[in-house]
Amino acid sequence: MDKVIGILAGSLRKASFSKKIAEAIIEFAPEGYEFKMVSLEDLPIYNQDFDDYNDVPQAIHLFRETMKGISGVIFVTPEYNRSVPGVLKNAIDVGSRPYNKSIWDKKPAAVFSNSPGHLSGFGANHHLRQSLVFLNMPTMQQPEVYLAQIKNDIDENGHLKEGDTKAFLKKAVAAYISWFEKNAV
Ligand code: FNR
Repeated sequence: MDKVIGILAGSLRKASFSKKIAEAIIEFAPEGYEFKMVSLEDLPIYNQDFDDYNDVPQAIHLFRETMKGISGVIFVTPEYNRSVPGVLKNAIDVGSRPYNKSIWDKKPAAVFSNSPGHLSGFGANHHLRQSLVFLNMPTMQQPEVYLAQIKNDIDENGHLKEGDTKAFLKKAVAAYISWFEKNAV
């Protein structure tokens, strides 16, 4: 059976660059793997009443169940105010509870950040890594993936252009897979 890697984009924006990067990543899935885009569209903001596992909004239940079938995660994040956008942090919070039932535990991760400007989402990338330490997700160290000025890499049809960024992304995904194989439990 194929191993399933979740691809989570930290933006709900229709024309999101992060979603376009995530879509490009899906095409790099090697044989034996399914890359599954996990939607964060309908997830309510977490509150601790949802710690009651059997009495939660359907979208929270579905997200947790989907994530249980996933063996590793590639996070594609933009940066909001030098940190992780709320939609992605909320998804992390949803999956982390109830305490001791986290769906993130031990799943190998990678963090790919991007920005339309020059800073490449560096702040979001490293704030996200901080949460992943606590969630016990071993996270790929190298290559680091910081994609600056990403809008120059998107064509008029909304696809990632052929070129250096796409080639680098493909290599980074391949590095993640070989690293995943050594770190998956
Ligand atoms: C931004 N943006 C932004 N960019 C950046 O490089 N560093 C930052 O700290 C911020 N902060 C920020 C806050 C808020 C509330 C918004 C809405 C935007 C710009 C951001 O990178 C840009 O809008 C991206 O296009 C968002 O990613 P998606 O939606 O294209 O994936």
